Amino acid sequence: MTRAPIGRRRALGVIALGAVGVAAGTTGWVSGLGAPAGSGRLALGAGGRLLVQPAVLASRDGVLDVELTAAPGVALAGRDTSALGFNGTSPGPTLRVAPGDLLRIRLTNHLDAPTNLHLHGVHVSPQGRGDNPFLSIAAGSGFDYAYRIPTDHPTGTYWYHPHHHGYIADQLFGGLVGALLIEHGQDLPVAADRVLMITDTTLDAAGRVVPVGAMDKMMGRQGELVLLNGQHHPAIPATPGVAQRWRIINACTSRVLALRLEQHPLTQIAHDGVFLPAPTDRDQIVLAPAGRADVIVHPARAGQYVLVTDPYDRGSGMMGMMSGGATGPITLATLAVAGPVGSSPPLPATLPAPPVPQGPVDGQRALTFAMGMGGMGSGGMGGMGGMGMSFTIDGRGFDARRDDQTVRLGSTEDWTITNTSSMDHPFHLHVWRFHVLADSTGTPRTATFQDVVLIPARGWVRLRILFTDYPGRSVYHCHTADHEDAGMMGTLTVTT
Ligand code: C2O
Ligand code: CU
Ligand code: CU
Repeated sequence: MTRAPIGRRRALGVIALGAVGVAAGTTGWVSGLGAPAGSGRLALGAGGRLLVQPAVLASRDGVLDVELTAAPGVALAGRDTSALGFNGTSPGPTLRVAPGDLLRIRLTNHLDAPTNLHLHGVHVSPQGRGDNPFLSIAAGSGFDYAYRIPTDHPTGTYWYHPHHHGYIADQLFGGLVGALLIEHGQDLPVAADRVLMITDTTLDAAGRVVPVGAMDKMMGRQGELVLLNGQHHPAIPATPGVAQRWRIINACTSRVLALRLEQHPLTQIAHDGVFLPAPTDRDQIVLAPAGRADVIVHPARAGQYVLVTDPYDRGSGMMGMMSGGATGPITLATLAVAGPVGSSPPLPATLPAPPVPQGPVDGQRALTFAMGMGGMGSGGMGGMGGMGMSFTIDGRGFDARRDDQTVRLGSTEDWTITNTSSMDHPFHLHVWRFHVLADSTGTPRTATFQDVVLIPARGWVRLRILFTDYPGRSVYHCHTADHEDAGMMGTLTVTT
């Protein structure tokens, strides 16, 4: 590449240095996110292989105004690539707002395809310039979004990504993702507070993102490179005895993560941005595409411990095809514990989990997710036409003009979602979050809200959904982004 990427590389270096300061440069009872950039005491190693944090853009006086430019040509895994990013990086900047804030985003589209923006998991209005998935921002144009975060919004880990039907998988696989943190002062004091955004993609020798074929789209593509904050296998620095918080975001296009940290439990404190009732030690955390887990890691002794994602069986799709990909664990990072032993206060025994809805329940609905050969639905889009596959909900492919579900504002409903196919589909609903009541596997459920849940192959999940505020129109869909692009999405209208 010629001149332009060099300038971009310099800019990236500056961002990376500042961000390492934010992540690693605080001690004791200080939230790493609150520290000014550049206060770091940890120098970037010569190899530059320490985990970097995306640049942080934080609100002031109740407002965050940001410009996000989506464009190709970012560095990934230390190489210049044709991958996509926001403001020159993938992941894009971490946006940090508080409940009650006004978030304004000017999105500029420097891609060669239409795009738009979605705040995943955030409870804001879907109307107008809000979290509206029906907008189309043409290549070369821009749009001004404005979102009012409600004052009672749970604080936690969310993210943003494009949501233009037909282009979602390519743009996620390209790298268009970023973290969005809703925070209110220090909700949990830790020595370091890090975003761990996991993406996957496949690059050719020239650094171009490799187009995927019909089979990959049918199964839901999984990239050969699994990256953490755009880095390949970085080191995460830690001090013995000192706890840190990881905000893990599964921003992969379709990959289910099964996370495990060598010789350490992952102490989960939040799921999908919402606190659990109590810290919970887990040997492995399974994260559906788009899911998040906030964990506390508390290493006792110096050493190197790998963070891996284990193979996860999504099922076989159609025609007995296997989900393919790696057969062993994939290493994401190494926790590098060194230095004199420090200490952290114990975690609180309980966490500020919002109460889950007890009812009364105003309505019941049943939805069916299916994969089939040919026939109905708008399957066929995005290159699967040749295989004659259909991806449907209740026998139909996505049509933005059709009203699939109409719900009365203020009601609480129980939805039973059945999956007739032989692979898992991650169900996601915009704006209105749900509580998982039960599923066909009998997995015990945590009493908290979620915004994405795996519907087991040939199984079902039952959800309780609160429609207590925000009238308007939005979508629910499979978060295997290739399936969503192929039609596995429906519209929901909440009426007054
Ligand atoms: Cu992560 Cu419809 O979204
Ligand atoms: Cu979403
Ligand atoms: Cu699916």
